[in-house]
Amino acid sequence: MDIMKTIHIFFWFFIHQQCFLIGLLVDSSHLSSASESPPVTVTAGNRAVLPCSWKSVLAEATPSVCHVQWAKRADTVFERRGEVRWEADGFEDRVEVPWEELGSGNCSLIISDVQIGDAGRYESFVVVDGTRSQQRRVFIQSVKLFVFDHKSHESRRPGEDLVLQLHTSHSYRVVFQARNSSEWSDVWMRDNKNTQHLWKHPLLNQLTIKNVKGSAEGTYKVLDEQGRAVSTVQLSVEENSTDRRIQQMIRSVPTGDAARRSYSLVLLSAVLVSVYLMFPLF
Ligand SMILES: *[C@@H]1O[C@H](CO)[C@@H](O)[C@H](O)[C@H]1NC(C)=O
Ligand SMILES: *[C@@H]1O[C@H](CO)[C@@H](O)[C@H](O)[C@H]1NC(C)=O
Ligand SMILES: *[C@@H]1O[C@H](CO)[C@@H](O)[C@H](O)[C@H]1NC(C)=O
Repeated sequence: MDIMKTIHIFFWFFIHQQCFLIGLLVDSSHLSSASESPPVTVTAGNRAVLPCSWKSVLAEATPSVCHVQWAKRADTVFERRGEVRWEADGFEDRVEVPWEELGSGNCSLIISDVQIGDAGRYESFVVVDGTRSQQRRVFIQSVKLFVFDHKSHESRRPGEDLVLQLHTSHSYRVVFQARNSSEWSDVWMRDNKNTQHLWKHPLLNQLTIKNVKGSAEGTYKVLDEQGRAVSTVQLSVEENSTDRRIQQMIRSVPTGDAARRSYSLVLLSAVLVSVYLMFPLF
């Protein structure tokens, strides 16, 4: 079959941009080889770049392509055709394929403020036909995204503040489990008003728990709207080292037999000293 090689010719003119697309050659022999990029791992709230290079599937010496699509499973997540861009619900203001990069063959998808639910397999495509009825998607690359939650240990003295990182603006709830308890209780929910004990930073994704006490010891979990853990913080509340040393000294004061023994030693010395004083000539 000689149609293995297909040639598409476009004439795309974008008035205000540098994408003067003249010809696009699709070499279908490249299309069969599924391309899998190494997985990308990121912690929630950070930025992930899913690699993509459309030059890998299109023949040499082709001019810029202006129509790229990114899908997660069957759902389109992001699409850019020239200056026109579209993003799926749940990805609003978080996904981008920069226009400057696209022209040079780089169709990498930037996901900002990555959510736990963003994890999964993503696929990129170029759309190679001008007219809607004949549009054809050409698969470029597939990449798996792993999203990890945050885990940390914190230690505070009584009366100090604990600043809990919420990591993303999508964090919805904070729950707490006291050290020896099996119960979880709500500490904070998005849109809650600040209180004497809790202060949400107006801009940063931070929640301050003020003036912690021993009862604040335990596990704090930051959850997203679906109840998935974004972060887990173990808090221990300890007196400072000076206090601890004093406590240890108090604890190490001899008791029982040991105390009685040292007491008799003191008594014996006192008797010997007195005897010596009374009979200095001995
Ligand atoms: C492709 O674009 C992404 C994000 O726009 C960038 O991080 C990456 O470095 C670029 N890759 C190359 C090879 O230029
Ligand atoms: C918590 O549990 C530990 C051991 O599991 C125990 O030693 C401690 O006394 C308990 N504390 C409280 C406040 O119940
Ligand atoms: C530790 O606590 C004691 C008494 O509570 C206080 O006087 C001292 O300044 C504290 N030390 C430090 C390093 O904060």
